[in-house]
Amino acid sequence: MSEVLYSANELEKVVADLAKAIAADFPDRQLLLLGLLKGCQPFLADLSRQLSRYQLDLAIDYLQVSSYIGTASCGRVTIKPVTVDESFCRQRHVLVVDDIFDTGLTLKEVMAWLKEKGAASVKSCVLLRKSGCSDEVLTPDYWGAIIPDAFVVGYGLDYNEQYRELPYIKILGADEQ
Ligand code: IMP
Ligand code: MG
Repeated sequence: MSEVLYSANELEKVVADLAKAIAADFPDRQLLLLGLLKGCQPFLADLSRQLSRYQLDLAIDYLQVSSYIGTASCGRVTIKPVTVDESFCRQRHVLVVDDIFDTGLTLKEVMAWLKEKGAASVKSCVLLRKSGCSDEVLTPDYWGAIIPDAFVVGYGLDYNEQYRELPYIKILGADEQ
Protein backbone atom coordinates (compact mmCIF):
# COMPACT_ATOMS: atom_id res chain seq x y z
CA MET A 1 0.00 0.00 0.00
CA SER A 2 1.19 3.54 -0.60
CA GLU A 3 0.40 6.90 0.96
CA VAL A 4 -0.33 10.09 -1.01
CA LEU A 5 1.77 12.92 0.44
CA TYR A 6 0.84 15.78 -1.91
CA SER A 7 -2.21 15.86 -4.14
CA ALA A 8 -2.17 17.66 -7.51
CA ASN A 9 -4.03 20.62 -5.97
CA GLU A 10 -1.60 20.86 -3.07
CA LEU A 11 1.36 20.76 -5.48
CA GLU A 12 -0.12 23.61 -7.50
CA LYS A 13 -0.21 25.81 -4.39
CA VAL A 14 3.33 24.81 -3.33
CA VAL A 15 4.70 25.71 -6.79
CA ALA A 16 2.81 29.02 -6.95
CA ASP A 17 4.25 30.05 -3.57
CA LEU A 18 7.76 29.13 -4.69
CA ALA A 19 7.42 31.18 -7.88
CA LYS A 20 6.33 34.20 -5.85
CA ALA A 21 9.37 33.92 -3.57
CA ILE A 22 11.77 33.42 -6.47
CA ALA A 23 10.38 36.35 -8.49
CA ALA A 24 10.88 38.68 -5.54
CA ASP A 25 14.56 37.71 -5.24
CA PHE A 26 15.79 38.36 -8.79
CA PRO A 27 15.66 42.13 -9.04
CA ASP A 28 17.46 42.35 -12.39
CA ARG A 29 14.74 39.99 -13.73
CA GLN A 30 17.13 37.79 -15.71
CA LEU A 31 17.11 34.12 -14.91
CA LEU A 32 18.21 30.86 -16.51
CA LEU A 33 16.09 28.02 -15.13
CA LEU A 34 18.27 24.94 -15.38
CA GLY A 35 16.36 21.73 -14.84
CA LEU A 36 18.01 18.47 -13.82
CA LEU A 37 16.59 15.69 -15.99
CA LYS A 38 14.58 13.75 -15.83
CA GLY A 39 12.90 14.34 -12.48
CA CYS A 40 12.55 18.11 -12.87
CA GLN A 41 10.12 17.97 -15.79
CA PRO A 42 6.60 18.50 -14.37
CA PHE A 43 7.95 20.78 -11.64
CA LEU A 44 9.95 22.96 -14.05
CA ALA A 45 7.03 23.20 -16.46
CA ASP A 46 4.65 24.32 -13.70
CA LEU A 47 7.21 26.59 -12.05
CA SER A 48 8.02 28.39 -15.31
CA ARG A 49 4.31 28.93 -16.03
CA GLN A 50 3.84 30.37 -12.53
CA LEU A 51 6.92 32.60 -13.00
CA SER A 52 5.46 33.98 -16.24
CA ARG A 53 3.10 36.07 -14.08
CA TYR A 54 6.03 38.14 -12.84
CA GLN A 55 7.56 39.51 -16.09
CA LEU A 56 11.00 37.99 -15.68
CA ASP A 57 13.45 37.56 -18.56
CA LEU A 58 13.42 33.75 -18.42
CA ALA A 59 15.38 31.13 -20.31
CA ILE A 60 15.15 27.38 -19.78
CA ASP A 61 17.81 24.73 -20.23
CA TYR A 62 18.60 21.28 -18.85
CA LEU A 63 21.37 19.09 -17.53
CA GLN A 64 21.15 15.32 -17.60
CA VAL A 65 22.23 14.27 -14.12
CA SER A 66 22.10 10.92 -12.39
CA SER A 67 23.19 9.34 -9.12
CA TYR A 68 20.41 6.92 -8.19
CA ILE A 69 19.89 3.24 -9.01
CA GLY A 70 16.64 1.84 -7.54
CA THR A 71 16.07 3.50 -4.15
CA ALA A 72 19.75 4.07 -3.30
CA SER A 73 22.22 6.77 -4.31
CA CYS A 74 25.26 5.25 -5.99
CA GLY A 75 27.25 8.22 -4.65
CA ARG A 76 28.67 9.23 -8.03
CA VAL A 77 27.08 12.11 -9.94
CA THR A 78 27.32 12.28 -13.72
CA ILE A 79 26.53 15.59 -15.50
CA LYS A 80 25.77 15.97 -19.22
CA PRO A 81 24.57 19.32 -20.66
CA VAL A 82 21.68 19.04 -23.09
CA THR A 83 22.84 22.19 -24.92
CA VAL A 84 26.03 21.19 -26.69
CA ASP A 85 27.70 24.61 -26.23
CA GLU A 86 28.98 24.47 -22.65
CA SER A 87 29.24 28.29 -22.48
CA PHE A 88 25.40 28.37 -22.24
CA CYS A 89 25.59 29.40 -18.58
CA ARG A 90 28.48 31.89 -18.80
CA GLN A 91 27.64 35.21 -17.08
CA ARG A 92 24.07 34.04 -16.50
CA HIS A 93 22.11 34.05 -13.24
CA VAL A 94 21.27 30.37 -12.94
CA LEU A 95 18.55 28.78 -10.82
CA VAL A 96 19.09 25.02 -10.69
CA VAL A 97 15.73 23.23 -10.48
CA ASP A 98 15.55 19.70 -9.11
CA ASP A 99 12.79 17.46 -7.86
CA ILE A 100 14.15 16.48 -4.46
CA PHE A 101 17.01 17.17 -2.07
CA ASP A 102 18.26 14.13 -0.21
CA THR A 103 22.01 13.94 0.51
CA GLY A 104 22.70 17.18 -1.39
CA LEU A 105 25.46 15.52 -3.40
CA THR A 106 23.76 16.14 -6.74
CA LEU A 107 23.24 19.86 -6.16
CA LYS A 108 26.71 20.32 -4.73
CA GLU A 109 28.34 18.78 -7.82
CA VAL A 110 26.07 20.66 -10.25
CA MET A 111 26.61 24.02 -8.55
CA ALA A 112 30.38 23.59 -8.55
CA TRP A 113 30.25 22.59 -12.23
CA LEU A 114 28.23 25.71 -13.13
CA LYS A 115 30.59 28.04 -11.27
CA GLU A 116 33.51 26.45 -13.10
CA LYS A 117 31.70 27.09 -16.41
CA GLY A 118 31.45 30.80 -15.56
CA ALA A 119 27.89 31.35 -14.31
CA ALA A 120 27.44 34.85 -12.80
CA SER A 121 25.45 33.43 -9.88
CA VAL A 122 24.05 30.01 -9.00
CA LYS A 123 21.07 29.32 -6.75
CA SER A 124 19.08 26.16 -6.23
CA CYS A 125 15.41 25.31 -5.97
CA VAL A 126 13.94 21.91 -5.13
CA LEU A 127 10.33 20.89 -4.84
CA LEU A 128 10.93 18.58 -1.89
CA ARG A 129 13.44 18.29 0.87
CA LYS A 130 13.72 15.15 3.00
CA SER A 131 13.51 15.70 6.74
CA GLY A 132 16.65 14.68 8.54
CA CYS A 133 18.80 15.52 5.51
CA SER A 134 21.99 17.15 6.63
CA ASP A 135 22.88 20.82 6.06
CA GLU A 136 26.55 19.88 5.97
CA VAL A 137 26.88 19.52 2.21
CA LEU A 138 24.71 22.54 1.35
CA THR A 139 21.21 23.94 1.88
CA PRO A 140 18.97 24.62 -1.12
CA ASP A 141 18.06 28.30 -1.57
CA TYR A 142 14.39 27.45 -2.14
CA TRP A 143 12.30 24.39 -1.33
CA GLY A 144 8.59 23.78 -1.63
CA ALA A 145 7.98 21.28 1.16
CA ILE A 146 9.74 19.10 3.70
CA ILE A 147 8.74 15.41 3.59
CA PRO A 148 9.48 12.37 5.78
CA ASP A 149 12.70 10.47 5.07
CA ALA A 150 11.05 7.95 2.73
CA PHE A 151 11.37 7.08 -0.95
CA VAL A 152 8.72 9.02 -2.90
CA VAL A 153 7.49 8.84 -6.49
CA GLY A 154 5.23 10.81 -8.83
CA TYR A 155 5.27 14.33 -10.37
CA GLY A 156 8.55 13.49 -12.13
CA LEU A 157 10.08 11.35 -9.39
CA ASP A 158 10.72 7.76 -10.42
CA TYR A 159 11.55 4.32 -9.14
CA ASN A 160 13.59 2.71 -11.93
CA GLU A 161 11.82 4.98 -14.48
CA GLN A 162 8.31 4.13 -13.24
CA TYR A 163 5.67 6.45 -11.68
CA ARG A 164 6.99 9.76 -13.13
CA GLU A 165 3.61 10.39 -14.80
CA LEU A 166 1.57 10.49 -11.58
CA PRO A 167 0.08 13.99 -10.98
CA TYR A 168 0.56 13.57 -7.20
CA ILE A 169 3.43 12.48 -4.91
CA LYS A 170 3.23 9.31 -2.85
CA ILE A 171 5.49 7.18 -0.70
CA LEU A 172 6.57 4.08 -2.63
CA GLY A 173 4.99 1.03 -1.01
CA ALA A 174 7.05 -2.05 -0.16
CA ASP A 175 4.86 -4.06 -2.54
CA GLU A 176 5.67 -1.66 -5.42
CA GLN A 177 9.44 -2.11 -5.43
P1 IMP B 1 20.86 13.68 -3.57
O1 IMP B 1 22.05 13.84 -4.49
O2 IMP B 1 21.09 12.60 -2.55
O3 IMP B 1 20.41 14.98 -2.94
O4 IMP B 1 19.69 13.09 -4.43
C1 IMP B 1 19.03 13.86 -5.33
C2 IMP B 1 18.55 13.03 -6.51
O5 IMP B 1 18.25 11.68 -6.15
C3 IMP B 1 17.24 13.61 -6.98
O6 IMP B 1 17.50 14.46 -8.07
C4 IMP B 1 16.44 12.40 -7.39
O7 IMP B 1 16.67 12.13 -8.75
C5 IMP B 1 16.99 11.26 -6.59
N1 IMP B 1 16.15 10.97 -5.39
C6 IMP B 1 16.45 11.21 -4.09
N2 IMP B 1 15.45 10.81 -3.29
C7 IMP B 1 14.49 10.31 -4.10
C8 IMP B 1 13.17 9.76 -3.84
O8 IMP B 1 12.68 9.65 -2.69
N3 IMP B 1 12.48 9.35 -4.94
C9 IMP B 1 12.97 9.45 -6.21
N4 IMP B 1 14.17 9.97 -6.48
C10 IMP B 1 14.94 10.39 -5.44
MG1 MG C 1 17.05 13.81 -10.09
